[in-house]
Parts: sequence; C-alpha cells; structure tokens
Amino acid sequence: MPSGLNIFLGWTAGTAGWLAVLSGASLAALAAVPPVLDSPPVPAEVAVTAPAPVSRERALALRHFLTQDCGSCHGLTLGGGLGPPLQREQVANKPVPYLAYTILNGRPGTAMPPWSRFLTEAEGEWLARELRGENP
Ligand code: HEC
Repeated sequence: MPSGLNIFLGWTAGTAGWLAVLSGASLAALAAVPPVLDSPPVPAEVAVTAPAPVSRERALALRHFLTQDCGSCHGLTLGGGLGPPLQREQVANKPVPYLAYTILNGRPGTAMPPWSRFLTEAEGEWLARELRGENP
C-alpha cells in the first residue's frame, strides 16, 4: 500500500473519531441548555391593559401627534399659542368626554379643527386622558 493512502486512511479515521467526539460534546452542551420556560413577562403586554383599545405602537404615534400637530397651535409643550394651554393643570377640571368631544369635533367658528377624520373615538378619548396625565 502506498504510504500516501495510509496517511489518508489514517486521517479519515482520525477525523471521524474527532467529529464523533465533537458531536457528542455539542449534544451534551445542547442538553445542558435549560428550557426557556421561566422568561419574565414582556412589559409591553402589561402596558396594553385597556381602558381604550389603543395599541402601544399607536400610543407612541399619538404622543408624537400631540406634540407636533396639536402643538403647532397649542404650543410644543402645550403651554398655549393660537389655541389655549392644554397642560395638566388647565385640563384637570375638564372631563374626558368634554375634551374628547372637542378633539373629535373641533370648535366650529374657531381655529380648532375636528380630528374625527384622523382619529377613532377611542383615540380621541386616549388623547383626552393623555392631556390629563391618566394614561399608563
Ligand atoms: C389650527 C390650530 C389648532 C390645532 C392644530 C389644534 N387646536 Fe385645539 N384648539 C384651537 C383653538 C383656537 C382652541 C380654542 C377654541 C375656542 O375658542 O373655543 C382649541 C381648543 C382645544 C380644546 C378645548 C380646550 C378647552 O379648555 O376647552 C382642546 C381639548 C383641544 N383644542 C385639543 C386639541 C388637540 C388634542 C389637538 C390635536 C389633535 C388640537 N387641539 C389641535 C386650535 C387648534
């Protein structure tokens, strides 16, 4: 037998053995990985507890909307501008349905536009509660 073949065969046998050891080891390692059963609850699921069906993603968009769009008249910090201030102290004595109604229907004859074309009723209420600092 030419020595080259011997070396080749030896190499093959050695490699196979080595691979067997390797796969045995990785199987053992796999078995040692604990099952992912006790992962902590995802906070997002907790945050979506409804008073209103507004998803977490939508809530983020609405917050942005409040600052950018409503803020263009009511001030970026809602401290007032063309529209009256809408900060917590100013709306504390104004009920959510009243605020939501104003948001959705606007105030005819004033610059306050109706937003019902862009917002659902639930979202109008969500914004009203947001103004009052009542959202989670
Ligand atoms: C184009 C300007 C403008 C934009 C944009 C605007 N508002 Fe107004 N808003 C006004 C004006 C002006 C008033 C006061 C109306 C009046 O004289 O009764 C008002 C009144 C209100 C009131 C009633 C406040 C009160 O004390 O009775 C609420 C609530 C309100 N806006 C919320 C919003 C929200 C929320 C948005 C965004 C979705 C928004 N507004 C966007 C101009 C605007």
